Amino acid sequence: MGIGRLDGKVALVTGGASGIGAASALRFAEEGAKVVSFDLGASEGGDWKKATEIAPAARAFQGDVRDAAALAECVREVEAEMGGIDILMSSAGVAGGGAAHSMDEEAWDTTVDINLKGTFLAAKAVLPGMIERERGAIVNVASVEGIQGCEGGSAYNASKGGVVLLTRNMAIDYGRKGIRVNVVCPGFIETPLFRSVFDMEVMAEVREKVAYQHHLGGRFGQPREIANAALFLASDEASFVTGQALAVDGGFTAGHRFGVARMMGLE
Ligand code: NAI
Repeated sequence: MGIGRLDGKVALVTGGASGIGAASALRFAEEGAKVVSFDLGASEGGDWKKATEIAPAARAFQGDVRDAAALAECVREVEAEMGGIDILMSSAGVAGGGAAHSMDEEAWDTTVDINLKGTFLAAKAVLPGMIERERGAIVNVASVEGIQGCEGGSAYNASKGGVVLLTRNMAIDYGRKGIRVNVVCPGFIETPLFRSVFDMEVMAEVREKVAYQHHLGGRFGQPREIANAALFLASDEASFVTGQALAVDGGFTAGHRFGVARMMGLE
Protein backbone atom coordinates (compact mmCIF):
# COMPACT_ATOMS: atom_id res chain seq x y z
CA MET A 1 0.00 0.00 0.00
CA GLY A 2 1.25 3.43 -0.89
CA ILE A 3 0.98 6.40 1.39
CA GLY A 4 -2.61 7.59 1.38
CA ARG A 5 -3.68 11.20 1.68
CA LEU A 6 -5.97 10.28 4.60
CA ASP A 7 -3.96 7.49 6.22
CA GLY A 8 -5.26 6.62 9.67
CA LYS A 9 -8.01 9.25 9.62
CA VAL A 10 -11.57 8.50 10.65
CA ALA A 11 -14.21 9.92 8.30
CA LEU A 12 -17.93 10.06 9.00
CA VAL A 13 -20.07 10.52 5.90
CA THR A 14 -23.77 11.26 6.21
CA GLY A 15 -25.67 10.03 3.18
CA GLY A 16 -22.81 7.58 2.68
CA ALA A 17 -25.01 4.83 1.27
CA SER A 18 -25.59 6.45 -2.10
CA GLY A 19 -24.47 8.87 -4.78
CA ILE A 20 -21.98 11.58 -3.84
CA GLY A 21 -21.65 10.40 -0.22
CA ALA A 22 -20.87 6.82 -1.24
CA ALA A 23 -18.39 7.95 -3.91
CA SER A 24 -16.68 10.14 -1.31
CA ALA A 25 -16.54 7.34 1.27
CA LEU A 26 -14.92 5.18 -1.40
CA ARG A 27 -12.43 7.90 -2.36
CA PHE A 28 -11.57 8.49 1.32
CA ALA A 29 -11.09 4.72 1.86
CA GLU A 30 -8.82 4.56 -1.19
CA GLU A 31 -6.65 7.16 0.53
CA GLY A 32 -6.38 5.22 3.77
CA ALA A 33 -9.28 6.54 5.86
CA LYS A 34 -11.49 4.45 8.10
CA VAL A 35 -14.97 5.26 6.86
CA VAL A 36 -18.33 5.37 8.56
CA SER A 37 -21.67 5.97 6.87
CA PHE A 38 -24.71 7.44 8.61
CA ASP A 39 -27.69 7.11 6.34
CA LEU A 40 -31.43 6.68 6.49
CA GLY A 41 -31.25 3.76 4.11
CA ALA A 42 -29.00 0.75 3.82
CA SER A 43 -26.56 0.62 0.96
CA GLU A 44 -27.40 -1.94 -1.68
CA GLY A 45 -23.91 -2.17 -3.06
CA GLY A 46 -22.20 0.29 -5.36
CA ASP A 47 -19.53 2.63 -4.09
CA TRP A 48 -20.25 2.10 -0.37
CA LYS A 49 -19.77 -1.65 -0.82
CA LYS A 50 -16.47 -1.00 -2.62
CA ALA A 51 -15.42 1.29 0.25
CA THR A 52 -16.05 -1.48 2.78
CA GLU A 53 -13.92 -3.85 0.71
CA ILE A 54 -11.00 -1.42 0.84
CA ALA A 55 -11.55 -0.38 4.47
CA PRO A 56 -12.75 -3.55 6.20
CA ALA A 57 -13.35 -1.79 9.53
CA ALA A 58 -15.95 0.41 7.81
CA ARG A 59 -19.22 0.77 9.67
CA ALA A 60 -22.66 1.71 8.46
CA PHE A 61 -25.17 3.28 10.85
CA GLN A 62 -28.80 3.60 9.92
CA GLY A 63 -30.31 6.83 11.17
CA ASP A 64 -31.87 10.14 10.30
CA VAL A 65 -29.78 13.33 10.25
CA ARG A 66 -32.77 15.09 11.83
CA ASP A 67 -32.29 12.90 14.91
CA ALA A 68 -29.70 14.53 17.19
CA ALA A 69 -29.69 11.60 19.62
CA ALA A 70 -28.98 9.05 16.87
CA LEU A 71 -26.12 11.18 15.56
CA ALA A 72 -24.69 11.57 19.06
CA GLU A 73 -24.85 7.81 19.62
CA CYS A 74 -23.14 7.14 16.29
CA VAL A 75 -20.33 9.58 17.13
CA ARG A 76 -19.95 8.08 20.61
CA GLU A 77 -19.64 4.53 19.26
CA VAL A 78 -17.27 5.48 16.45
CA GLU A 79 -14.99 7.46 18.74
CA ALA A 80 -14.89 4.60 21.27
CA GLU A 81 -14.15 1.93 18.66
CA MET A 82 -12.22 3.67 15.89
CA GLY A 83 -10.78 6.82 17.46
CA GLY A 84 -11.64 10.50 17.14
CA ILE A 85 -13.48 11.62 14.04
CA ASP A 86 -11.13 13.67 11.87
CA ILE A 87 -13.47 14.29 8.95
CA LEU A 88 -17.19 14.89 8.67
CA MET A 89 -18.77 15.00 5.25
CA SER A 90 -22.44 15.96 5.31
CA SER A 91 -23.88 14.62 2.09
CA ALA A 92 -27.32 13.45 3.26
CA GLY A 93 -29.90 15.44 1.37
CA VAL A 94 -33.12 15.36 -0.56
CA ALA A 95 -34.55 17.18 -3.56
CA GLY A 96 -37.68 19.24 -3.05
CA GLY A 97 -39.15 22.52 -4.07
CA GLY A 98 -41.86 24.01 -6.21
CA ALA A 99 -43.23 27.50 -6.62
CA ALA A 100 -43.57 29.09 -3.19
CA HIS A 101 -47.28 29.92 -3.50
CA SER A 102 -48.15 26.29 -4.17
CA MET A 103 -45.78 24.58 -1.81
CA ASP A 104 -47.18 23.05 1.34
CA GLU A 105 -45.52 23.68 4.65
CA GLU A 106 -44.80 20.06 5.38
CA ALA A 107 -42.78 19.63 2.17
CA TRP A 108 -40.88 22.83 2.97
CA ASP A 109 -40.05 21.57 6.46
CA THR A 110 -38.85 18.18 5.22
CA THR A 111 -36.44 19.68 2.71
CA VAL A 112 -35.08 22.35 5.01
CA ASP A 113 -34.88 20.02 8.01
CA ILE A 114 -32.92 17.32 6.21
CA ASN A 115 -30.66 19.53 4.10
CA LEU A 116 -29.97 22.41 6.48
CA LYS A 117 -30.83 21.34 10.01
CA GLY A 118 -29.34 17.88 9.34
CA THR A 119 -26.07 19.52 8.33
CA PHE A 120 -26.10 21.58 11.53
CA LEU A 121 -26.91 18.56 13.71
CA ALA A 122 -24.18 16.40 12.18
CA ALA A 123 -21.64 19.16 12.79
CA LYS A 124 -22.93 19.65 16.31
CA ALA A 125 -22.39 15.96 17.03
CA VAL A 126 -18.74 15.85 15.92
CA LEU A 127 -17.61 19.32 17.03
CA PRO A 128 -17.06 18.67 20.77
CA GLY A 129 -14.47 15.98 19.96
CA MET A 130 -12.85 18.08 17.25
CA ILE A 131 -12.62 21.06 19.59
CA GLU A 132 -11.03 18.90 22.27
CA ARG A 133 -8.47 17.47 19.85
CA GLU A 134 -8.02 20.86 18.18
CA ARG A 135 -8.25 19.42 14.69
CA GLY A 136 -10.84 18.41 12.17
CA ALA A 137 -12.18 19.00 8.69
CA ILE A 138 -15.85 19.38 7.88
CA VAL A 139 -16.96 19.18 4.26
CA ASN A 140 -20.57 20.11 3.70
CA VAL A 141 -22.44 19.51 0.48
CA ALA A 142 -24.60 22.34 -0.84
CA SER A 143 -25.23 22.80 -4.56
CA VAL A 144 -24.93 25.30 -7.38
CA GLU A 145 -28.48 25.97 -6.18
CA GLY A 146 -27.00 27.25 -2.92
CA ILE A 147 -25.11 29.94 -4.83
CA GLN A 148 -27.69 31.01 -7.38
CA GLY A 149 -31.40 30.62 -7.93
CA CYS A 150 -33.00 27.97 -10.05
CA GLU A 151 -36.56 27.76 -11.42
CA GLY A 152 -38.82 26.05 -8.92
CA GLY A 153 -36.02 25.73 -6.38
CA SER A 154 -37.63 27.47 -3.36
CA ALA A 155 -37.10 25.15 -0.36
CA TYR A 156 -34.11 23.37 -1.91
CA ASN A 157 -32.36 26.63 -2.82
CA ALA A 158 -33.12 28.10 0.59
CA SER A 159 -31.76 25.03 2.36
CA LYS A 160 -28.58 24.94 0.29
CA GLY A 161 -27.98 28.69 0.54
CA GLY A 162 -28.28 28.18 4.29
CA VAL A 163 -25.66 25.44 4.19
CA VAL A 164 -23.23 27.76 2.40
CA LEU A 165 -23.57 30.48 5.06
CA LEU A 166 -23.58 28.02 7.94
CA THR A 167 -20.27 26.76 6.53
CA ARG A 168 -18.74 30.23 6.43
CA ASN A 169 -19.98 30.96 9.92
CA MET A 170 -18.51 27.76 11.35
CA ALA A 171 -15.20 28.43 9.59
CA ILE A 172 -14.95 31.69 11.51
CA ASP A 173 -16.08 30.20 14.82
CA TYR A 174 -13.78 27.17 14.83
CA GLY A 175 -10.69 28.29 12.90
CA ARG A 176 -8.75 28.99 16.10
CA LYS A 177 -9.53 25.45 17.22
CA GLY A 178 -7.82 23.99 14.14
CA ILE A 179 -11.07 22.99 12.50
CA ARG A 180 -11.60 23.75 8.82
CA VAL A 181 -15.11 23.97 7.39
CA ASN A 182 -15.78 24.09 3.65
CA VAL A 183 -18.64 23.29 1.32
CA VAL A 184 -18.73 21.65 -2.08
CA CYS A 185 -21.34 22.99 -4.48
CA PRO A 186 -21.93 20.35 -7.13
CA GLY A 187 -23.46 21.00 -10.52
CA PHE A 188 -25.94 18.39 -11.70
CA ILE A 189 -24.50 14.97 -10.92
CA GLU A 190 -25.78 11.60 -12.09
CA THR A 191 -26.95 9.94 -8.87
CA PRO A 192 -30.22 8.30 -7.74
CA LEU A 193 -31.41 11.71 -6.43
CA PHE A 194 -30.71 13.32 -9.80
CA ARG A 195 -32.45 10.49 -11.66
CA SER A 196 -35.55 10.77 -9.48
CA VAL A 197 -36.02 14.24 -10.96
CA PHE A 198 -34.53 14.08 -14.43
CA ASP A 199 -35.72 10.65 -15.54
CA MET A 200 -39.33 11.88 -15.52
CA GLU A 201 -40.60 12.04 -19.09
CA VAL A 202 -41.78 15.64 -18.72
CA MET A 203 -38.20 16.61 -17.88
CA ALA A 204 -36.65 15.33 -21.15
CA GLU A 205 -36.31 18.76 -22.77
CA VAL A 206 -35.25 20.46 -19.54
CA ARG A 207 -32.64 17.78 -19.00
CA GLU A 208 -30.95 18.66 -22.30
CA LYS A 209 -30.98 22.38 -21.54
CA VAL A 210 -29.51 21.86 -18.08
CA ALA A 211 -26.76 19.61 -19.44
CA TYR A 212 -25.94 22.32 -22.03
CA GLN A 213 -25.14 24.84 -19.27
CA HIS A 214 -22.31 22.66 -17.95
CA HIS A 215 -19.63 24.20 -20.15
CA LEU A 216 -17.21 21.30 -19.81
CA GLY A 217 -18.64 19.02 -22.44
CA GLY A 218 -22.31 19.91 -21.99
CA ARG A 219 -22.67 16.89 -19.74
CA PHE A 220 -23.68 16.06 -16.20
CA GLY A 221 -21.06 15.31 -13.59
CA GLN A 222 -20.16 12.00 -12.02
CA PRO A 223 -20.18 11.38 -8.24
CA ARG A 224 -16.44 10.70 -8.26
CA GLU A 225 -15.76 14.18 -9.64
CA ILE A 226 -17.35 15.61 -6.49
CA ALA A 227 -15.59 13.05 -4.29
CA ASN A 228 -12.22 14.21 -5.62
CA ALA A 229 -12.95 17.79 -4.53
CA ALA A 230 -14.24 16.60 -1.15
CA LEU A 231 -11.04 14.60 -0.72
CA PHE A 232 -8.94 17.70 -1.28
CA LEU A 233 -10.98 19.73 1.22
CA ALA A 234 -10.86 16.90 3.78
CA SER A 235 -7.13 16.35 3.45
CA ASP A 236 -4.17 18.22 4.91
CA GLU A 237 -3.46 19.53 1.39
CA ALA A 238 -6.20 22.06 2.15
CA SER A 239 -4.50 23.13 5.39
CA PHE A 240 -5.03 26.87 4.63
CA VAL A 241 -8.49 26.54 3.10
CA THR A 242 -11.57 27.26 5.17
CA GLY A 243 -14.94 28.91 4.73
CA GLN A 244 -14.95 28.27 1.01
CA ALA A 245 -17.81 27.27 -1.25
CA LEU A 246 -16.15 25.29 -4.03
CA ALA A 247 -18.34 24.91 -7.09
CA VAL A 248 -17.58 21.65 -8.87
CA ASP A 249 -19.98 22.19 -11.70
CA GLY A 250 -18.37 22.02 -15.12
CA GLY A 251 -18.64 25.82 -15.29
CA PHE A 252 -22.40 25.97 -14.60
CA THR A 253 -22.08 28.99 -12.29
CA ALA A 254 -19.52 30.75 -14.53
CA GLY A 255 -22.35 32.17 -16.62
CA HIS A 256 -24.93 31.25 -19.23
CA ARG A 257 -24.43 29.98 -22.73
CA PHE A 258 -27.04 31.01 -25.29
CA GLY A 259 -25.51 29.83 -28.57
CA VAL A 260 -23.07 32.64 -29.40
CA ALA A 261 -20.13 30.31 -28.76
CA ARG A 262 -21.64 27.96 -31.34
CA MET A 263 -21.77 30.83 -33.86
CA MET A 264 -18.07 31.37 -33.17
CA GLY A 265 -17.36 27.74 -33.96
CA LEU A 266 -16.76 26.82 -30.31
CA GLU A 267 -18.99 23.82 -30.00
P1 NAI B 1 -28.56 10.32 -3.26
O1 NAI B 1 -30.03 10.24 -3.14
O2 NAI B 1 -27.85 9.40 -4.19
O3 NAI B 1 -27.88 10.19 -1.82
C1 NAI B 1 -28.37 10.89 -0.72
C2 NAI B 1 -28.30 9.97 0.49
O4 NAI B 1 -28.80 10.72 1.61
C3 NAI B 1 -29.20 8.73 0.35
O5 NAI B 1 -28.45 7.56 0.63
C4 NAI B 1 -30.29 8.95 1.37
O6 NAI B 1 -30.76 7.76 1.97
C5 NAI B 1 -29.59 9.85 2.38
N1 NAI B 1 -30.54 10.60 3.17
C6 NAI B 1 -31.62 11.29 2.73
N2 NAI B 1 -32.29 11.81 3.76
C7 NAI B 1 -31.63 11.42 4.88
C8 NAI B 1 -31.84 11.65 6.25
N3 NAI B 1 -32.90 12.35 6.67
N4 NAI B 1 -30.95 11.14 7.13
C9 NAI B 1 -29.91 10.39 6.71
N5 NAI B 1 -29.67 10.15 5.42
C10 NAI B 1 -30.53 10.65 4.51
O7 NAI B 1 -28.25 11.84 -3.66
P2 NAI B 1 -26.93 12.60 -4.09
O8 NAI B 1 -27.20 13.17 -5.41
O9 NAI B 1 -25.72 11.79 -3.86
O10 NAI B 1 -26.97 13.79 -3.06
C11 NAI B 1 -26.00 13.99 -2.06
C12 NAI B 1 -25.95 15.45 -1.72
O11 NAI B 1 -25.53 16.19 -2.85
C13 NAI B 1 -27.31 16.03 -1.31
O12 NAI B 1 -27.13 16.90 -0.23
C14 NAI B 1 -27.74 16.76 -2.54
O13 NAI B 1 -28.62 17.81 -2.25
C15 NAI B 1 -26.41 17.26 -3.07
N6 NAI B 1 -26.40 17.61 -4.47
C16 NAI B 1 -26.70 16.69 -5.43
C17 NAI B 1 -26.70 17.08 -6.76
C18 NAI B 1 -27.03 16.14 -7.87
O14 NAI B 1 -27.21 16.60 -9.00
N7 NAI B 1 -27.07 14.84 -7.64
C19 NAI B 1 -26.38 18.46 -7.16
C20 NAI B 1 -26.03 19.30 -6.07
C21 NAI B 1 -26.05 18.90 -4.78
